[in-house]
Amino acid sequence: MMKWILLAGVVTAAIIGTGIYNLGGGDGLPLRSDPDNQTQVAMGKTLYAENCASCHGAKLEGQRNWRKPLAAGGLPAPPHDESGHTWHHPDAMLFRYTKLGGQQLVPPSFKSNMPGFEDALSDGQIWAVLSYIKSEWPLKIRRRQTRMSQTR
Ligand code: HEC
Repeated sequence: MMKWILLAGVVTAAIIGTGIYNLGGGDGLPLRSDPDNQTQVAMGKTLYAENCASCHGAKLEGQRNWRKPLAAGGLPAPPHDESGHTWHHPDAMLFRYTKLGGQQLVPPSFKSNMPGFEDALSDGQIWAVLSYIKSEWPLKIRRRQTRMSQTR
């Protein structure tokens, strides 16, 4: 009997837990990225074109000579496809970098050219953009980045 009560408790907690998890932000969008969620990816693709493509490229290719420091300081925008290093970072970092902008997160001596999108995009919209970016990665890279996001 006791065993069943315990089991029921665990199941209820799991259901409530998932419910809260899926509630999303104020706009009801999921607060995590899922490159297999086609609705989220489609929304992210549009938002990417409007907010990120001008620097990171329409095809995620980044700016030319993106590794070479600019005369004005800092770096050009890196690609978000597999040739860049976006996928070397866990989800939490990508989210924070997009929301807060680079200057909040890099050492003060480094000049960041990456603006923050806190005022332009909701948290759910940022996760949608990240879903789109990830959906363009080969499966192998996606898996590696997912594992990294789980451990850091
Ligand atoms: C005005 C140009 C510009 C725009 C617009 C822009 N970025 Fe960036 N972004 C950069 C630059 C430049 C960097 C390189 C690092 C730095 O300067 O901080 C960067 C770096 C990043 C990084 C870190 C990548 C890495 O591999 O370390 C992420 C993530 C990122 N941008 C996401 C976005 C997303 C998502 C958008 C759109 C919502 C966006 N950026 C729009 C210029 C831009």
